[in-house]
Amino acid sequence: MAEINLLARYPKSKRNVKARLGNKEENRALAMKFGKEYFDGTREQGYGGFRYDGRWVPIAEDIVRHFDLKAGDRVLDIGCAKGFLVKDLMRVCPGVEVFGIDISEYAVMNCEPEVVGRLHVGDARHLPFPDGSFKAALSINTIHNFDRAGCITAIKEMQRIARNGGYLQVDAYRNPAEEQIFLDWVLTAQTHGTPQFWADLLNEAGYRGDYFWTILEIDPEWTQT
Ligand SMILES: C[S@@+](CC[C@H](N)C(=O)[O-])C[C@H]1O[C@@H](n2cnc3c(N)ncnc32)[C@H](O)[C@@H]1O
Repeated sequence: MAEINLLARYPKSKRNVKARLGNKEENRALAMKFGKEYFDGTREQGYGGFRYDGRWVPIAEDIVRHFDLKAGDRVLDIGCAKGFLVKDLMRVCPGVEVFGIDISEYAVMNCEPEVVGRLHVGDARHLPFPDGSFKAALSINTIHNFDRAGCITAIKEMQRIARNGGYLQVDAYRNPAEEQIFLDWVLTAQTHGTPQFWADLLNEAGYRGDYFWTILEIDPEWTQT
């Protein structure tokens, strides 16, 4: 198990935290459905338009290198949304067999054309795949959406289907200021804490893959009063 940032080349996004403070509970309830509003509604409700723009290509390259993926290897993206990473992994590593699973029927029904048939609607806590059936399991910014017991179950499932390779990334904060940004911005995370909190939880779940944290940052422009 190693702490390594495979999303180092993911672009930073601008976040208007103040705009999310209005109607927070209403927006949270909508977001938790992981439907059209969450992906393609307003920025206050979620992504504010979840469209493919190629930003996952460098991350896919780093994942292929890290796991030494080759044609014929099987990879599962847990919480794959519309399959952007699934598509880009297959693009940068021709012949690799990448699949995805996500609770959102909306996301799967609106996936990238290249991944039709590769994405399943399902729950990360009950993966419908045999033990050890993937070379690597990836789960990016998804598992924090469960309560603590659900996180443990989902991490064990990830470990079960890909015993020798995993990459898990979840939201975290390192100090009270980052925690406040997190609480103001995040709509769907149910379990959250510091990197140490997560490291302890990964240990408890018996996780042996690699991992890193998403630390939310905001554009200083947006914080001016
Ligand atoms: C923040 S998005 C991350 C999407 C993608 N991995 C990324 O990094 O762009 C969280 C994803 O988790 C999915 N999700 C939420 N609950 C889930 C569950 N119980 N099982 C599987 N996926 C779930 C949501 O539908 C959404 O696509």
